[in-house]
Amino acid sequence: MIVLGIETSCDETGVALLDSERGVLAQALHSQVEMHRDYGGVVPELASRDHVRRLLPLVQRTLSEAGATLEQVDAIAVTAGPGLVGALLVGASFGHALGYALGRPVVDVHHMEGHLLSPLLAEPKPQFPFVALLASGGHTQLMRVDGFGRYRLLGETKDDAAGEAFDKTAQLLGLGYPGGPAVSRIAELGNAGAFAFPRPMQHSGDLNFSFSGLKTAVLTAVRNAGELSEQVRADIARAFVEAVVEVLVRKSLASLAETGLRRLVVAGGVSANQQLRQALKRETQRVGAELFCPPPELCTDNGAMIAMAGLARLQAGAGGAPLGFGVRPRWSLDDGS
Ligand code: KG4
Ligand code: ZN
Repeated sequence: MIVLGIETSCDETGVALLDSERGVLAQALHSQVEMHRDYGGVVPELASRDHVRRLLPLVQRTLSEAGATLEQVDAIAVTAGPGLVGALLVGASFGHALGYALGRPVVDVHHMEGHLLSPLLAEPKPQFPFVALLASGGHTQLMRVDGFGRYRLLGETKDDAAGEAFDKTAQLLGLGYPGGPAVSRIAELGNAGAFAFPRPMQHSGDLNFSFSGLKTAVLTAVRNAGELSEQVRADIARAFVEAVVEVLVRKSLASLAETGLRRLVVAGGVSANQQLRQALKRETQRVGAELFCPPPELCTDNGAMIAMAGLARLQAGAGGAPLGFGVRPRWSLDDGS
């Protein structure tokens, strides 16, 4: 079965063609980073308009790279939420219209389920059950995953998401948007111990996170530093990254201990972070657990993960009538729907 995956929930237009037997046949991505950079963040209306411009050419490019025709597409998977409503509507209306025209089923995918299942596109693939750390721009969650569609929330952030903390720290350090990769890069040049930031909720006794206090600590450090030299900037970035990584790693290991599971899957944009990947690798090895981290290009938003989640849903019997559709800008992954 060949599934066309379409992702338009935020600032990336992603398209992929996934074959249930052969894996990803082709994929294409357009990032709107350059367009939003001048505004210091994503401008929803501009995002929607750009998805409109990019989507059809990306679908055509993906098909031609795969040497496939539209008639060979057996089903279409679209991100139906959570995300920016206008941006979601572009992909959902395009996908459902295409499904109707081709007479093919269309399946609505939860964006975070896409992230959650993205490690299944890489080798080696994790077996169920596993614990998943999902860390993106809008979510930071720990999930127990027993199979497709069988997700139990173990813990989540009570305020900012980890990616949001990266983006806000980048802004405070004058690094612009998007923040994650920039903060991570300059953190490598920072001196250890120059700043000490809190590890929020480290000893909370549960599996939840909080990152807003850390943002305030960065703000205070920036204010106290006055003129920010390159070195001070790098030192703050390093202390920030160390704090985020330590909390994410600790709670991930605590989730393994609490569930008794030995496999940890990490997904979402923040899992592209090298410091986090290295720390998770070291710590999972130490406790004898297996770590599954998709390559960085599969960690951030892409069409392949949506095709993957769509395929899993289709194989479980999903795929409604293409004429009726809607999007869900806010949508919990463990609400059973
Ligand atoms: O999953 P994603 O691409 O989009 C959402 O679903 O939100 O995640 C984007 C988030 C942004 O906050 C971005 O700053 C962060 O992931 N991010 C990173 C890195 N690459 C992306 N954070 C830390 N280090 C990175 N290398
Ligand atoms: Zn995402």
